[in-house]
Amino acid sequence: MSTKNPPEIQSILDRTSQFVREKLSGEGTGHDWFHIERVCRNALAIAREEGADLVVVELAALLHDVGDWKFHGGDKHAAARIAREWLESLNAPRAIVDHVALIADTISFIGAGVATPMSTVEGRAVQDADRLDALGAVGIARAFAYGGSKGQPLYDPNIPPTPHDSFDAYKKGGGPTINHFYEKLLLLKDRMQTDAGRRLAEERHVYLEEFLDEFFAEWEGKR
Ligand code: ADP
Ligand code: NI
Repeated sequence: MSTKNPPEIQSILDRTSQFVREKLSGEGTGHDWFHIERVCRNALAIAREEGADLVVVELAALLHDVGDWKFHGGDKHAAARIAREWLESLNAPRAIVDHVALIADTISFIGAGVATPMSTVEGRAVQDADRLDALGAVGIARAFAYGGSKGQPLYDPNIPPTPHDSFDAYKKGGGPTINHFYEKLLLLKDRMQTDAGRRLAEERHVYLEEFLDEFFAEWEGKR
């Protein structure tokens, strides 16, 4: 997606893209290759506006979900380890490997009460892009795909949302998918870290609120 990179860097980007595509194609919980494509596109758009390093942003966006803790026995550091091993196998420059691993290590949302600050503008661009994909129509579709894959109910009026204040509590999950809107999705707008991210999140947030209004109106027989 980036243009005019030195050939050795372009080759790292191309091979990484191929590696991730093979690993995540057809994945059924909303972490599939098309999620990665959308995150790359939005992360690069945000990065251009913020003046971030586009190579680091693209590599981090490509690799951010390959070692997601949810699919690695809750291991919060699997993402950084897998990203590092992969980039080292390509002899990527040390500074790039370290930076991408740092982003992979700290990108994930791990509970409403747990801060996940990003120390670099490249990390903020990728994290905002990842979070945008949890909002709007795509975000709603992904939430129900994920919930279905875990056997979560759609909604249960007897189970209130939980504002998880630790990674361990959040990781257990299992609540109805509608609760996830209150435990995470509706909180994201105020946690965006770039101007472009905030702008794009605003509209997608409104769409979530409209969806919830309609959902409860239908649930309660008002429509
Ligand atoms: P992050 O990239 O911040 O780690 P996740 O991987 O947790 O984000 O989320 C990926 C997608 O799966 C998002 O669209 C998110 O809303 C959805 N998801 C994660 N946990 C749940 C859950 N318990 N119920 C429903 N959807 C979920
Ligand atoms: Ni993601």
